Amino acid sequence: MKRAVRILFAATASALLAVGGAVVATGAEAAEPDPVFGVPVFNDPAGSEAAQYAIFQQLARLIDRVPAGETIEMSWFEFKTPDYSDTTARPAITDRLIKAHRRGVNVRILLDGQVAGDGSSNATQPPYLRLKPELGTSETASSYILLCAKNRGCIGKRKIGDADAYNHNKFLTATKVVLNNGAVKTGVVFQSSGNLGTWDADTAYNNAITWTEASSYANYKAYFKDLKKYRTSSTGDDNYYRVGASADQYKTHFFPRKETNGDYNQASTDTIVNVLDSVKCSYVGQTDGDPHQTDIRIVMWALTRTAVAKKLADLVKDGCWVDVVYSVTSTSALDALGNVGGRSIGITSCEARYGNRTIKAHSKYMLIDGAYDDDQIPRVFMGSHNYSLTALRNADESMVRIRDSSVHEAYLHSNFYKVRDFCRANTTAAAAATTVLSDAAALRFDEG
Ligand SMILES: *[C@@H]1O[C@H](CO)[C@@H](O)[C@H](O)[C@H]1NC(C)=O
Ligand SMILES: *[C@@H]1O[C@H](CO)[C@@H](O)[C@H](O)[C@H]1NC(C)=O
Ligand SMILES: *[C@@H]1O[C@H](CO)[C@@H](O)[C@H](O)[C@H]1NC(C)=O
Ligand SMILES: *[C@@H]1O[C@H](CO)[C@@H](O)[C@H](O)[C@H]1NC(C)=O
Repeated sequence: MKRAVRILFAATASALLAVGGAVVATGAEAAEPDPVFGVPVFNDPAGSEAAQYAIFQQLARLIDRVPAGETIEMSWFEFKTPDYSDTTARPAITDRLIKAHRRGVNVRILLDGQVAGDGSSNATQPPYLRLKPELGTSETASSYILLCAKNRGCIGKRKIGDADAYNHNKFLTATKVVLNNGAVKTGVVFQSSGNLGTWDADTAYNNAITWTEASSYANYKAYFKDLKKYRTSSTGDDNYYRVGASADQYKTHFFPRKETNGDYNQASTDTIVNVLDSVKCSYVGQTDGDPHQTDIRIVMWALTRTAVAKKLADLVKDGCWVDVVYSVTSTSALDALGNVGGRSIGITSCEARYGNRTIKAHSKYMLIDGAYDDDQIPRVFMGSHNYSLTALRNADESMVRIRDSSVHEAYLHSNFYKVRDFCRANTTAAAAATTVLSDAAALRFDEG
C-alpha cells in the first residue's frame, strides 16, 4: 500500500518535471493553507489528528513552497517518522522532502548519528533509508543527507559523566518560500522543540515558530555550515558557543558552551542563569506608571540543572512570580526550586494519563513578562535547549530569544495555561513521583 503511494508520487513528480520544468507545488499541496510567520504553532497531543500534527503541517507547508533552484537545510535529532500515507492533516515530511528535491530544490540534511537509550535515531530509520538514495551522501554535492558520527554531536564531542554528546537540533532554513498568492519570503528559519516522530505529535506538547530576519537567518546558516564542518573533525569544538546580536528580535544561541572552571554546574557560564540575572522582579510600568512584578513561566521537558533551579528560587524570593511545568527533574533541582523562603511558586510535573497514552510536555520554552535589563518588552526563549547539563555542555543545540509582546501573548494564552492545567489535572501523585530522577540518573537520562 505505502509503496504504491510512493511510486505514484515519483511518477507524478517526474512527469511534471519532464513537461513543465519549474513546478512549484503539485495537486493537493497547492490547496493547503500557507505556513504562518512570526506566530507560534502548537500541537495538541490530546486533540484531533490535525491538532496533533499542527507542527508537521507548518513544516510541510514550508517545504512545499520552496521553488526549484532554492535550498533547504535542516538538522534534526530523531528524524524517525515511520512511513505512512501523506495527507493534509498528517503530512509525511519525508515525502515532501523527496518531492521538493525532485522539482529541483537543493535539500541538505544533517542528523545525529546514534542516540543512546532507544538507539532509534540513526541510519536504520525509514526517513534516512529513503532519503539516502534520493539525496546522496556527498558533502560537496548540492543535496545530501549526512550523519554526525556515532556517540557524539557534529560539534560537541566530549562525554559528560556517562552521557555522550549528541546533535539535538530541530531546525530548518529555506532560502526562499513562495506563498499561495505569489508573495515571496526570503531567508526563512523554522525552529521547533519537537523531533520528527509520531510520539512528538500524538503524545507530547511541542511548539515551533517560523520567521524571516536577515541577521538571525545568517546565524543559522553559519551554524549549519559549522555542524557540517565539525562533523568530520576529530576534536569537534566543545567550547563552540555563539550568540547573535541583542538588537535582533530573534537573538540566536548555539551550543555547546563550555564551563571555565572545570565544574559543569558553573552558574556564570549557564546561559539561562545569565538571562535570569538580567531580570528585575519589581518595576514601575513604563506605560502605566504603576508598580508590577515580573512573571516567569517555563514549560520544559528536562529541568535538571541545579543552577537554573536555584536562580529561579532566588527570583521568587526577590518578588518574581515563577510557574514551572516539567516532564523530568532531578532531586537537587527540585530541592532548589522548593527553597523559596515561604513564598509561593508554581511547580507542575507533567506525566498525564490520557486514554492509553502518557502525555508529557516536550516543549522547552521560558516566557518572561516584566522588566529585563533596561526594557519591558515581553520575551520568549524557545528551541531545542532543555535545562539539563548536557544541553548546555556537550550537545549541539539552538535556542532563540524572541522579543515580541504578541508572540509572548500567544505562548501564554494559547499554550502555557492549557499545558499547565492539563498536566496538573491529569498527573497523579504516583506519576509525579516518577518524574524526579536521582542526580546520576538525570545525567544518564539526558541523552535518551
Ligand atoms: C543504529 O542503532 C542500532 C541500534 O542501537 C545500532 O545497532 C546501529 O549500529 C546504529 N547504526 C548507526 C549507523 O549508528
Ligand atoms: C491506543 O488507543 C487508540 C484509540 O484510542 C488505538 O488506536 C491505539 O491502537 C491504542 N494503542 C495501544 C498501544 O494500545
Ligand atoms: C484532563 O484530562 C481529561 C481527559 O482525560 C480532559 O478531558 C481534561 O480536560 C483534562 N483536564 C484539564 C484541566 O485539562
Ligand atoms: C531533551 O530533549 C530531548 C527531546 O527533544 C530528549 O530526548 C532528551 O532526553 C532531553 N535531554 C536533554 C537534552 O538533556
